[in-house]
Amino acid sequence: MATMKNIPLILMGCGGVGRQLLQHIVSCRSLHAKLGLHLRVVGVCDSKSLVVASDVLSNELNDNFLSEVCRFKVDGSSLLTLGGWGECQVFKNSELKEKVIDVASVMGKSTGLAVVDCSASSETVGVLTRVVDLGCCIVLANKKPLTSTMEDYYKLVSHPRRIRHESTVGAGLPVISSLNRILLSGDPIHRIIGSLSGTLGYVMSEVEDGKPLSQVVRGAKSLGYTEPDPRDDLSGMDVARKALILARLLGRRINMDSIKIESLYPEEMGPNVMSVEDFLSTGISLLDNDIQERVRKASLNGNVLRYVCMIEGSRCEVGIQELPKNSALGRLRGSDNVLEIFSRCYSEQPLVIQGAGAGNDTTAAGVLADILDIQDLFL
Ligand SMILES: NC(=O)c1ccc[n+]([C@@H]2O[C@H](COP(=O)([O-])OP(=O)(O)OC[C@H]3O[C@@H](n4cnc5c(N)ncnc54)[C@H](OP(=O)(O)O)[C@@H]3O)[C@@H](O)[C@H]2O)c1
Ligand SMILES: *[C@@H]1O[C@H](CO)[C@@H](O)[C@H](O)[C@H]1NC(C)=O
Repeated sequence: MATMKNIPLILMGCGGVGRQLLQHIVSCRSLHAKLGLHLRVVGVCDSKSLVVASDVLSNELNDNFLSEVCRFKVDGSSLLTLGGWGECQVFKNSELKEKVIDVASVMGKSTGLAVVDCSASSETVGVLTRVVDLGCCIVLANKKPLTSTMEDYYKLVSHPRRIRHESTVGAGLPVISSLNRILLSGDPIHRIIGSLSGTLGYVMSEVEDGKPLSQVVRGAKSLGYTEPDPRDDLSGMDVARKALILARLLGRRINMDSIKIESLYPEEMGPNVMSVEDFLSTGISLLDNDIQERVRKASLNGNVLRYVCMIEGSRCEVGIQELPKNSALGRLRGSDNVLEIFSRCYSEQPLVIQGAGAGNDTTAAGVLADILDIQDLFL
């Protein structure tokens, strides 16, 4: 049998997505072996600690250990408590960052170590910019590092072949890779418009059917479709982060503050003014009539309302738009994401990408595909 090509990686973040990624890695063992590949997990960290194989150049955290890590984290325990389990070393918070950088300096240039960010933290950007310099590849599901300053962004993308972040927009959907293919072929992209929040997609299509906004949001929350505080979805901030990532990919040098964001609730119903309970029981009902009226007006023009991100010329906006019923976005029902891309090649009819845009499984699958996509650099 030919020698296996090892792909070493460190995982940052062990929540819903990070744990699912570890499970995918383990369950794909024989598939990857047939391709001559072996994913070697040398370290895993959460917010408080880092677990590393005792000798990162030759050892790995084995599959039993990875399953144990997942069991620990589901129970809400810290990785710190895993000390003494097998051939690994445990580092606590204060040493975490330096230790990842140590491993990166030993392995980066020689192996292309992949540092995978499945955290939801804005603090990882410092480590990521350092390890890129040390020759590592970086793979992100976390949007925050890419939506920090322009300076950080340029550092992260300074070696385009060494970064993948497919799951930051549309989870596992091939959004970033499709845009990159179009851009690299010199086909200018004029306009991108998309529904990139499963929650807001669902809310807008239910409201279109005549249901009151308040009832739809309460229902979505009880089904677990929203964040614990639904205002985190309704504010549009998450969509705005995705819009910024797409705009920067298209070459716009902009920051969060140049994106026009429409929140679905007014400031006086914000989290600093009103509890979630008050918002859901009384606040949100006050918004029902206004949105119903907008839906009605749109339908008189043969249009529907969608909560979209829209990038065109120097415009980058996030909010409700009136769109033709007879378009991919107009036909959208339920929680799918839909992205329409207009370019020279796709000018009359857009390129449309549609499918589930959230969920631990699809998001982690996108991350895994990204890790495999960069491995050919180090054959
Ligand atoms: N779930 C989805 O559908 C989806 C879709 C697309 C993108 N994403 C993105 O994927 C990322 C992960 O999502 P998730 O749902 O798995 O989040 P999550 O369940 O909140 O998990 C976050 C994990 O990151 C760890 N963490 C926090 N700060 C850290 C730091 N400074 N360094 C290293 N690890 C740190 C947390 O540690 P503790 O365990 O110690 O708290 C936790 O294990 C997020 O950025 C999210 O936006 C998610
Ligand atoms: C993702 O994982 C988290 C943490 O395990 C869990 O609470 C959540 O329900 C999962 N989400 C989905 C859509 O499966």
